[in-house]
Amino acid sequence: MARIAQLGALCAAIAQGVQAAVTFEIPSRAGGYLHAPLDPAPVGISFEFFAFPSYFTNVTATEQCLSNWKDLTGVWPPIRIGGTTQDRAQYDASTSAYVVYSVANPADAPMTLTFGPRFMTLAGEYPGRVVVGLNRGKNNIDNTIAAAKVAVSEVTNLLAIELGNEPEYYPKDGQPIAGGTWNPSVDADSQVKWITQVGNAIGKQNIIQAGNWNQPPPQWGAAQLIAKETAESRQYVRHYAHHNYPGGDVQKLQTHSQTASNVRSMFAADVAAVKQQTGKEYILGETNSVSGGGAAGVSPTFGAALWTMDYVLRAAAHNISRTYFHHGTVGNCQYCFWGRYSMGAPYYGATAAVALAAGAASIAALDDGTSNYAAYVAFDSEGAPLRALLYNSDYYSGSGGRSAQQFVLTGLGGGSSVKAKRLTANSSLSRADRGNDISFGGQYWTNGTCVVGGDEVFETAKVGSDGRVTFNLKAAEALLVYL
Ligand SMILES: *[C@@H]1O[C@H](CO)[C@@H](O)[C@H](O)[C@H]1NC(C)=O
Ligand SMILES: *[C@@H]1O[C@H](CO)[C@@H](O)[C@H](O)[C@H]1NC(C)=O
Ligand SMILES: *[C@@H]1O[C@H](CO)[C@@H](O)[C@H](O)[C@H]1NC(C)=O
Ligand SMILES: *[C@@H]1O[C@H](CO)[C@@H](O)[C@H](O)[C@H]1NC(C)=O
Repeated sequence: MARIAQLGALCAAIAQGVQAAVTFEIPSRAGGYLHAPLDPAPVGISFEFFAFPSYFTNVTATEQCLSNWKDLTGVWPPIRIGGTTQDRAQYDASTSAYVVYSVANPADAPMTLTFGPRFMTLAGEYPGRVVVGLNRGKNNIDNTIAAAKVAVSEVTNLLAIELGNEPEYYPKDGQPIAGGTWNPSVDADSQVKWITQVGNAIGKQNIIQAGNWNQPPPQWGAAQLIAKETAESRQYVRHYAHHNYPGGDVQKLQTHSQTASNVRSMFAADVAAVKQQTGKEYILGETNSVSGGGAAGVSPTFGAALWTMDYVLRAAAHNISRTYFHHGTVGNCQYCFWGRYSMGAPYYGATAAVALAAGAASIAALDDGTSNYAAYVAFDSEGAPLRALLYNSDYYSGSGGRSAQQFVLTGLGGGSSVKAKRLTANSSLSRADRGNDISFGGQYWTNGTCVVGGDEVFETAKVGSDGRVTFNLKAAEALLVYL
């Protein structure tokens, strides 16, 4: 009878397009697998330098979106202020404005700008950790030292200072510092010199976020910078950072094997070099789905939200301590998590990642990164599993049948039950700013305010006496399981 019932269930499953189950054993302790300690707040937000005051004085959702995560984790998410316009900005001690610039069109980023001490005072009002990006491109170190001193005095929670953004592009951008020869080796010498002088001038160790390239390692990577460091310069470095914008269409972007391979092939060796040679942290100082503000058909979609979730968790499992998702010009930003008037789908994916990591001490990736199906587990400080996040990265365009995948978790307490929250939408192409069909645990975030709406919904599943529990995830869905 049991055999026949199983066969019946299998036939029904096949009829519904459910594929053979993938099975993950929940480890009883942290360790094994691809694993790493977790920062108290691994998901950060990066604000384009010139736009930072706007986000914090003129975009209502900003504070609420950040505080929603603080409510989940007890820690304000870290922010980074920087980007291309940090290398166009000069400090002006005499201006009372946050920033001074003019643009022909509000959708543009300024080609040149100045900022005053109040810019740093505003950054200092943020209760979470803050990274401030300063100018190296203009080759005016006195101005940068003056700005760094104000950052140190005004930004109470200053985590680090960057000296230049994506310096590999300085020649293309006509930056004076790259007037002669400019390559990884020349840039590394320049970084070492600036780190030493700025560190010395502000009299603080462990304060510089070094690196900050976008072109991949090893050419533009931390290992080659470390090789050029002096003992003096290294004491000023707090951690090393890299940028990354994987790009691609929605299907490619959300595909788990693609994301796992991107993180591993791009960063694993550079992270290991930093750990082994300096013992310092490695972070993703600026990232998002597609460079240049995002792609209209890709970055605002639910598929990009799923990528956001998967990417930051994969990075965390590879010992990338924090990942900052970039936010550009207000009103002209396809990949932004929120804007002045509407929410962006990626906030949903980022929030699922925050919810997995909340209060956890370490993370493990249980899958080997070669299939479309991912499983992450977060552990508490005693090493006991807290939550698992399951991800079916199969693409669903919204038309035709929607496949599903069974995920079996083993190693749970027999006969118990577990609850779970589902991250779902009508399709990979769903958008929070075009009809509200995206939800996490039945909830959504309100346009313009980022206040949560809807009733929180948990599913419950029975764990068999053999410690196994089965979940069905449709194509392009994730499930956060509370263990
Ligand atoms: C705030 O946003 C409004 C609406 O876009 C804009 O008109 C105004 O100039 C902004 N103010 C500041 C200080 O950025
Ligand atoms: C991450 O770093 C810890 C030591 O801090 C180490 O035990 C672990 O193996 C590292 N994980 C990876 C994926 O390299
Ligand atoms: C999402 O799907 C539901 C159920 O099929 C449908 O009623 C709703 O209109 C869809 N929403 C959008 C924005 O497509
Ligand atoms: C947010 O605004 C968009 C665009 O007007 C709309 O389609 C969507 O339904 C709104 N979402 C919510 C939660 O009200």
